Amino acid sequence: MNRPIGIIDSGIGGLTVASEIMRQLPKEPIVYIGDSARCPYGPRPVEEVRAFTWQMIGRLLHEGVKMIVIACNTATAVVLEEARAQLDIPVVGVIRPGAISAIQVSENRHVAVIGTIGTIASNAYTMALHSIDENVTVESLACPLFVPLVEQGTIKGPEAEAVVRESLAPLQGAGFDTLILGCTHYPLLKPVIEACLPGVTVISSGEETAREVSSLLFYHSMNEQHQAKATHRFYTTGEANQFKQLAASWLNIHTDSVASIHLDGPLPVQATMKSK
Ligand code: DGL
Repeated sequence: MNRPIGIIDSGIGGLTVASEIMRQLPKEPIVYIGDSARCPYGPRPVEEVRAFTWQMIGRLLHEGVKMIVIACNTATAVVLEEARAQLDIPVVGVIRPGAISAIQVSENRHVAVIGTIGTIASNAYTMALHSIDENVTVESLACPLFVPLVEQGTIKGPEAEAVVRESLAPLQGAGFDTLILGCTHYPLLKPVIEACLPGVTVISSGEETAREVSSLLFYHSMNEQHQAKATHRFYTTGEANQFKQLAASWLNIHTDSVASIHLDGPLPVQATMKSK
């Protein structure tokens, strides 16, 4: 099916999921929206996260996407269920795939999750983990300093190391063997996080999320069959050049097509909403 997959995040973090989808599904065109101008979403009230996320979804529907990936844990926790209920295209979040990966990897059934204030307060990971295995012990910690660090481009060096070390201090010695990066910005800090937690397996949800996208596309016969190599479109509410540079230098995503956009107003399109 010659329609793109829509991917959204509060900023550039969702590119960690987009790059995995591009790797696993090279024929699939992508439309990505990063709301960098209003990032971070993590400390915002739920109603604001809901409104901003629906604005991005509305824009994706105007772009004619065949599926939506909410590549933001904070937005997934707030909007996933209602988006699935209201839209007539598949909607994928990043929390359940992260929980599945952790359960697959953990040997001592003791898992920690780090995320934004919003994601941790929602308890969404604990619920997702316990829906798979209620005997898993879960530690949760909000790390609100990580997203600003990533959006400003500081993913290694002494400043990143100090912030990560201090933020993760409450988890030291807790006994978990697996850490879920419950925010799509955090994989960009993965080497620094791993250095702080020797012996712990650090997982991000990108790979498992891409597998879910792939399964759904094939299940619904929505996969792209003809295009040899996909072309992608990237939109940011922030500065296009900065977005482009970070995408290229961190994730090897090279694109000429990055445009700055402005998002507001209630945009969902009736034609692609489920009829009541
Ligand atoms: N990347 C997002 C997440 O996965 C949101 C970060 C933020 O905007 O606070 O939660």
